[in-house]
Amino acid sequence: MSKEKIALFTIFGGTGDLAKRKLYPSLYRLYKKGYLAEKFAVIGTARREWTDDYYREIVVNSIQDLVESPEHAQEFASHFYYQSHNVTDIEHYDILKLLSETLDTRYQLEGNRLFYLAMSPKFFGVISQNLKDCNLLTAEGFNRLIIEKPFGHDYESALELNNQIRASFEENQIYRIDHYLGKEMVQNISAVRFANNMFEAMWNNRYIDNIQITLSESIGVEERGGYYDTSGALRDMLQNHILQVISLLAMEPPTRLQDKEIRTEKIKALQAVRLFKPEEVSDYLVRGQYGPSSISGEELKGYREEFNVAPDSQTETFVAGKIMIDNFRWSGVPFYFRTGKRLTNKGTQIDIEFKNVPLNLFDNNDEPLPPNVLTIYIQPIEGFSLELNTKKVGLGLETETLQLEHKHSAETTANSSEAYEKLILDCLNGDSTNFTHWDEVASSWKFVDIIRKAWDNEIVEFPNYPSGSMGPVESDQVLTKDGFKWHWCPDKQ
Ligand code: BG6
Repeated sequence: MSKEKIALFTIFGGTGDLAKRKLYPSLYRLYKKGYLAEKFAVIGTARREWTDDYYREIVVNSIQDLVESPEHAQEFASHFYYQSHNVTDIEHYDILKLLSETLDTRYQLEGNRLFYLAMSPKFFGVISQNLKDCNLLTAEGFNRLIIEKPFGHDYESALELNNQIRASFEENQIYRIDHYLGKEMVQNISAVRFANNMFEAMWNNRYIDNIQITLSESIGVEERGGYYDTSGALRDMLQNHILQVISLLAMEPPTRLQDKEIRTEKIKALQAVRLFKPEEVSDYLVRGQYGPSSISGEELKGYREEFNVAPDSQTETFVAGKIMIDNFRWSGVPFYFRTGKRLTNKGTQIDIEFKNVPLNLFDNNDEPLPPNVLTIYIQPIEGFSLELNTKKVGLGLETETLQLEHKHSAETTANSSEAYEKLILDCLNGDSTNFTHWDEVASSWKFVDIIRKAWDNEIVEFPNYPSGSMGPVESDQVLTKDGFKWHWCPDKQ
């Protein structure tokens, strides 16, 4: 059976950064692998006036590191068309409709349409409504909508946005992107859990002491200060990526590895996340903002000096905290997390710390044995490690901790499919497993809103961590007061 997918892609925001950095390269990768062949076309839209030729040049430029040959790149780019478009102007949708129909016939696209909204979320509602009202949705093929984050800035705005979109698209036609769900090792969480009895049997509060999730970035906000200053780490990373990772770690085994079953379990896990009382927020969470520093002779700006950031900004660029999941499996197990900009390293990893043996026969001067820790390295390294206590070679019964480790080779990592490539292919296949369901978005906002409101009521002393560190010292205290410590300490290595 041919693996070729048939579709017309309409990209709103076709001149933008996301389209150039992620979407065109991902489409090209799918083209190289034969998932896209003859029967596909792409319409790029944005306000600017571009010609098809100019647009194709931009597309070719965006894939130059990947191209097989200049002819192959040209052949790929010949499927791209540009349409200048004002998203609020109804007449422009009529032109888009005509072009869509022409391309549908030219490339035999069977009425399959994938609309990609890679632009400001304030237009998501109006675009989806106009697509429907102006008859751009077909009766004969599929109509799917891919939406980039942020999906609202709190529960109320997300609900309003969802209602607007749902007036034109059914839930099963909406694909809300969280690019973390396309990452190789995030997708591996389910395999580790459900394909190894050794772990699944222990994946609960009887054997796990705590779970630590770190999403650390070494870069600052770069040119995105305008967006970031209204978002902060809470909305930018916790509401989506971190809670999604937690839902995968915490969910019950689904009955089948299919979208409906997996999402049902993820939703249940997120609904069991404990909602804090406003006065409890400071017991569970810590926020920070990076200040200037000099690293290896390089002067790094503080957040407040970044472009488009208010000089007295109260926006957090770091958040750490503890999440509790009040269900049978996880009662009493803290899920610690931290994420921030301008930290020591770029790295995402999950450390699962198991409880110690009930009686320590290898007690060494009352020193407890180190816990067994399963680490899932998400990026840039991909792999696993497991720390075990063993006997030291030689006389006596002294123990040492060994690390069993598997890391994907640099070549495997470099060749593994990019998150956007996987997610676009999933969408073409109608598989929404790795996209967030509205109920997940809703639960996540309800959790985050409480924190945001509590924080917005207080003025804090920022900045409170220097660039290049692992955030404010208080982030360590979130764990130490429970008798734990961060397993991964890149700043101390
Ligand atoms: C995005 C955030 O969702 O994720 C960015 O908006 C952040 O601020 C990025 O830098 C991190 O993604 P990754 O894949 O580089 O870990």
